[in-house]
Amino acid sequence: MTSMPKLIKRKRIILHKPMLKDANAIWNYCKDPLLSKFTQNIPFPYTKKHAFSFIDICDKKWKERRVFNYSIFVKEKLVGNINLALRTEGIAELGYWIGKKHWGKGYCTEASELILEFGFSKLRLHKIYATHIRENIGSGKVMQKLGMTLEGCFKEHVKRRGKWYDLVQYGILRVRR
Ligand SMILES: CC(C)(COP(=O)(O)OP(=O)(O)OC[C@H]1O[C@@H](n2cnc3c(N)ncnc32)[C@H](O)[C@@H]1OP(=O)(O)O)[C@@H](O)C(=O)NCCC(=O)NCCS
Repeated sequence: MTSMPKLIKRKRIILHKPMLKDANAIWNYCKDPLLSKFTQNIPFPYTKKHAFSFIDICDKKWKERRVFNYSIFVKEKLVGNINLALRTEGIAELGYWIGKKHWGKGYCTEASELILEFGFSKLRLHKIYATHIRENIGSGKVMQKLGMTLEGCFKEHVKRRGKWYDLVQYGILRVRR
């Protein structure tokens, strides 16, 4: 199976396979309760151990060629993380987070455009989808800006910090690009 490149560069964004030297930066962003509030798999509270084990798991999943995680760099500074996870033949899920102090600068949209392009051209994916907790307006906005189509809403599909949330799904097909 084809893999993704370990380094992708475009305009102001560089995507790089997560590196051990960045564990501290990842921990600093992810320990913020606001960052993990509406995510489905960032633990809370977030410890340094979580950051190290995240990088280790990323490495294993890269080797299996199933989940491609990238640290997002702007001017050599790590600002967030993005991933493409192969779910079934030809279909992958997009996931992302950006450190709070960098929100609203278009980084997530730009990094997502890059990874979508590689997913369709390099992995020859048929479809890429993404989901967000209904209250996570900013994430939904990113999906819309990517040209994704609203596909539906799963009622009370995610439990986060003791509360059930609706999950909204967006998707995009290769033929549309
Ligand atoms: C969701 C997230 C990744 C967006 O990253 P970002 O780099 O700020 O995204 P962008 O700047 O590319 O685009 C965000 C858009 O949403 C808009 N937005 C953000 N919060 C909003 C809100 N509450 N209401 C309306 N629009 C909102 C921004 O203005 C921007 O739109 P614009 O370009 O038209 O101004 C970031 O907020 C984040 O990491 N959140 C915590 C982790 C998370 O929720 N991950 C996704 C799980 S599904």
